Amino acid sequence: MKIIMLGAPGAGKGTQAKMIADKYGVPHISTGDIFRANIKNGTELGMEAKKYMDQGLLVPDELTVKILLDRVAQEDCKNGYVLDGFPRTIPQAEVLDQALEELGDKIDFAIDVDVPDENIVKRMSGRRACLACGATFHTEHVPPKQEGICDRCGKELVLRDDDKPETVLNRLKVYHDQTQPLIEFYGGKGVLRTVDGTKSMQEVFDSIVAVLGA
Ligand code: AP5
Ligand code: MG
Repeated sequence: MKIIMLGAPGAGKGTQAKMIADKYGVPHISTGDIFRANIKNGTELGMEAKKYMDQGLLVPDELTVKILLDRVAQEDCKNGYVLDGFPRTIPQAEVLDQALEELGDKIDFAIDVDVPDENIVKRMSGRRACLACGATFHTEHVPPKQEGICDRCGKELVLRDDDKPETVLNRLKVYHDQTQPLIEFYGGKGVLRTVDGTKSMQEVFDSIVAVLGA
């Protein structure tokens, strides 16, 4: 099963992608997480990506596409995957489509987690992320057992550099300009399914399971 998560920054793509990965036993692949891991480890790729991410801009397609295609070619992706944060532009979607077509394969579902802009800024300021294992918490909705510490791996939780309100507004603008057109793109292929992302995490997940099948 090959799934793409669509939705604005903070819509809950990562939250739902992790739940899908656990239930269906496919890897969760987040280009944002891959970039953040590279930044944390001080790699050349990380340094380059950080320049764009800190401003709320997209990392150029040339850098992003190669990383993603390398990742999905790995052994654990043979039976499918859930992509979170990729594709984010029409050219990225076209490259992915073409790479799959060459393997006689295709995307099964593109799930749009729909949340209006008004809800987003509030969600982001409460998010706390673990840069070590990728887990995500929320000061109100999903508080960690011990403040500032990751339940999963015990490392420190941080407010992401790009979650400051002014950067979030920029990311929203970039989303509407460059990523939202993908909704029509996948709609035209008959694989788009939209779920109401303003509901509770479990309710959102239930609607996704209704799409994917139990
Ligand atoms: P990325 O890491 O993908 O960030 P994003 O798309 O902006 O999305 P977020 O991770 O911020 O939000 P999310 O939808 O995963 O929400 P979450 O589940 O955490 O990308 C970061 C940057 O990397 C980009 O800006 C770009 O620069 C670069 N990049 C990445 N991929 C790229 C690509 N393909 N091309 C070019 N550049 C790329 O939830 C948010 C919060 O809300 C959490 O605290 C969560 O606990 C809470 N929450 C979730 N669901 C609910 C709910 N139902 N009710 C209440 N609270 C909820
Ligand atoms: Mg995310």
